[in-house]
Amino acid sequence: MKNVIGIFALVFTFSAFAQKDASIRIYPDGGKQIISKHIYGQFAEHLGSCIYGGLWVGEDSDIPNTQGYRTDVLNALKELRIPNLRWPGGCFADEYHWMDGIGPKQNRPKMVNNNWGGTIEDNSFGTHEFLNLCELLGCEPYISGNVGSGTVEELAKWVEYMTSDGDSPMANLRRKNGRDKAWKVKFLGVGNESWGCGGSMRPEYYADLYRRYATYCRNYDGNQLFKIASGASDYDYNWTETLMKNIGGRMNGLSLHYYTVTGWNGSKGSATQFEPDDYYWTMGKCLEIEDVVRKHIAIMDKYDPRKNVGLMVDEWGTWWDTEPGTNPGHLFQQNTMRDAFVAALTLNVFHKYTDRIKMANIAQIVNVLQSMILTKGPKMVLTPTYYVFDMYKVHQEATYLPLDLICEKRMVKGNREVPMVSASASKDANGIIHVSLANVDLENVQTLSIDLEGRKINQVNGRILSSATINDCNTFDHPDKVKPQGFDGAKVKKGMLEVTLPAQSIVVLEIR
Ligand code: AHR
Repeated sequence: MKNVIGIFALVFTFSAFAQKDASIRIYPDGGKQIISKHIYGQFAEHLGSCIYGGLWVGEDSDIPNTQGYRTDVLNALKELRIPNLRWPGGCFADEYHWMDGIGPKQNRPKMVNNNWGGTIEDNSFGTHEFLNLCELLGCEPYISGNVGSGTVEELAKWVEYMTSDGDSPMANLRRKNGRDKAWKVKFLGVGNESWGCGGSMRPEYYADLYRRYATYCRNYDGNQLFKIASGASDYDYNWTETLMKNIGGRMNGLSLHYYTVTGWNGSKGSATQFEPDDYYWTMGKCLEIEDVVRKHIAIMDKYDPRKNVGLMVDEWGTWWDTEPGTNPGHLFQQNTMRDAFVAALTLNVFHKYTDRIKMANIAQIVNVLQSMILTKGPKMVLTPTYYVFDMYKVHQEATYLPLDLICEKRMVKGNREVPMVSASASKDANGIIHVSLANVDLENVQTLSIDLEGRKINQVNGRILSSATINDCNTFDHPDKVKPQGFDGAKVKKGMLEVTLPAQSIVVLEIR
C-alpha cells in the first residue's frame, strides 16, 4: 500500500485537487480491525453529584425517576448505546468497602468521601443499585476493586457475591438482599491509580499485589472475568514496562489515564472563558495522546506481540477549574464546543489503535469533568460532548478503515503541531461507511475531497455539530444552544465526495 500512497500524494500535489484545502483517501476494503464498542465506555464515580442527584435520586424523590434512577438521564443515556460503565471510582474505589453498600438502606453505614470534598457518603447507592442500572442501560459493568485499603478476601467475596449462582455463602447473602440470579460482571479493575490515590505503590510492588489479588478473583458459573491491571498515568512508561514484565499474560487489560489538563497544581483554566490560543493549546495537548499511546503500545508489543493484553484508557477527557460557586472537591465543570473537539479528536485517535486499545472511559458520565450530561435539581442539559458520542456511536463494532489525510498543520501554543482536520472512517455490518471529520480551524472553511478508491457513492447523509463561537455551551437556561443539525455540505463530484466543512465544526457522514 505504501507505493500507492506515495503515488497518490504525488497525484494530489499536481492534480486539479491541489487547490483544495484538504484531501482524504479512504481504503474501503483495507480494514481488518473491528473498532471495539468498549472504546465508548463511561465512568461513574462517587464524586460530587455524579451518582447522587445525577444518576440516582431515590424512589421517593420529586424528580421523575425509574426505580430511583432519574428518568430523563436514563433515557438520554440509552440513546448513546453505552457499552460499559466503570464504577465506583476512581480514587473513591480504593476506599470503598462494598459490604457497606448492600442490605436495607437504613442499616448501611456512612463514610467520609476523603478524596472528594469530605462529603458524607450514605452508601444508599451500592452494588445492587449499580448492577441494576447497567441492566437498564444494557451495558457491561466494569467494577473497580479496592486494592489500596481493602483485602484480597474482600475483593474475592465481592466477585462471589455478584457472580456466583451456587449455594455459596455470598450468593446466599445476595439472595437475602433481594437478588436471586447472579449478575454477569465482565470487567474487573484490580485497583485504580495504584501509583497515587490507590496506594502510592511502586510498580514492582503493585505487580506482585495484582498477581495475588487476581488469583482469588474467580470465574463463577460461566462468568468470565476480564481482569484489568491499574496502569500508568500519561508519560510513565516505566510503570507499563514493569507491569508487562512482571504480570504479562496474567492480566487481560492494562489501563492508562490521560487527561487534557494544563497541570496538576494551580488553576487549570476556565471551562468557558478562554481565548483562541488556549483552544489551540487544548487541541495540541489532546492530540498528544496519540504519541503517548504509541509509546505504551510499543512497550506492550515487546512483551506481548500477539496483542493479547488490551490497552484500556479507562480515564480520559478535559479537566478545567470547577464552575464558580460550586464545591471545588466536586469537579463540576461546564462543557463547550472545545470539549466536543477533544472528544472527537480523541475518539478518532482511539479508532486508529483499535488493534490494541480495547476500552476507553471518558471521565465522567454526569456532572463531573467532561460529562455527557449536567443536572441541577430537576433540570438536565446534554453537553456538546454528549452529541459527539451520539454522532460517533455508528463506529461501534464497525471495521476500521485506514485513510490518508493531507491538510494544513499549524504550530500552536505549547509548541505542538496541530493538523487542521481530523478524520476517521469505518464500515458497518451493512457495508455503510461512516466518516467522522473535525475542522479544528476556528476561522477557515475546509474544502475537503474524499476519495473512496473509486467506490460508487449512491447516497450521502450527514450530521454537523457547530456553534457561533467555540466557547458556546448548553446551560440550564439555554439547553439547546449547541445541538447537531442535518448536514448537506457533501456532494458527489466525478466519483469523489466534496465536503465543505465550516470552521469549527464536527461532521459525521453516512455513505451508502
Ligand atoms: O476522574 C477523577 C479522578 O481522576 C479519579 O478519581 C482518579 O482516578 C483520577 O485521578
